[in-house]
Amino acid sequence: MASFQKNKTAVILFFLLVSVVALGWTLKPENESEYININPTVIIKDSIASVKAFQKVYKVLMSPRCVNCHPIGDVPLQGEDSHLHVMAPKRGIDGRGLYAMKCTNCHQTKNTPGLHTPPGNSDWHLPPADMKMVFEGRTAHQLAKQLMDPSKNGHMDINKLKKHADDAFVLAGWNPGEGRSLPPLTHAEFKKEWLTWLNNGAYAPAK
Ligand code: HEC
Ligand code: HEC
Repeated sequence: MASFQKNKTAVILFFLLVSVVALGWTLKPENESEYININPTVIIKDSIASVKAFQKVYKVLMSPRCVNCHPIGDVPLQGEDSHLHVMAPKRGIDGRGLYAMKCTNCHQTKNTPGLHTPPGNSDWHLPPADMKMVFEGRTAHQLAKQLMDPSKNGHMDINKLKKHADDAFVLAGWNPGEGRSLPPLTHAEFKKEWLTWLNNGAYAPAK
């Protein structure tokens, strides 16, 4: 009888513990938990989930809406076939153009209405010459490694990378101006896969 009582107490204590943990989980603040790992060591390492998510992220990164601003050379790309930008404006040191040929001469703060007109943003430009952030021609393996390398990604840590899912240029990919295709995932899907990739250890695919 005494041992039955003891077991019963143990069972009750166990359920209490489970409920407290579950409550803590449901009460965790939404916005914060979306991006921020308070302690980087709590990242769950799951190489399979991570790689699978990156394969989807990669399709977006390599879509014309992203790759056109992440070229291998110093001239941006245009169109669905990512051809070299007409009139060949150059990157320049800060990515904003060279000499008088500045990106914002033509790219306004908003998309210019009409077909074959320049898309716009508050400060349309390429990554700078000393940090080119090249996507064009990179394999999924190479690009995953590069994105996680602070010496190549603009000195971003994992939390900054997570927030980059909502960067103005990234969002511009889903508001590309008339006649341009959208990336292969919705922005919400892209963000989910991006965070899944990072939250599971940011593994690079084998190739
Ligand atoms: C002389 C005007 C002009 C200048 C200067 C210029 N652009 Fe453009 N840009 C355009 C036009 C017009 C288009 C649209 C072409 C089309 O759709 O056929 C365009 C399109 C683009 C696209 C394609 C967008 C997409 O989603 O496919 C990118 C990327 C781009 N420009 C980047 C730049 C960058 C970066 C600079 C500065 C280094 C720059 N441009 C300077 C006129 C210009
Ligand atoms: C107008 C040009 C432009 C477009 C379009 C653009 N980017 Fe970028 N991207 C940049 C610049 C410039 C930086 C460097 C950071 C900065 O100055 O904002 C950057 C940085 C990045 C970075 C972080 C640095 C790295 O490479 O590790 C990621 C990730 C990224 N872009 C993803 C995307 C994705 C995804 C899209 C398409 C949905 C996209 N970009 C479209 C210009 C662009």
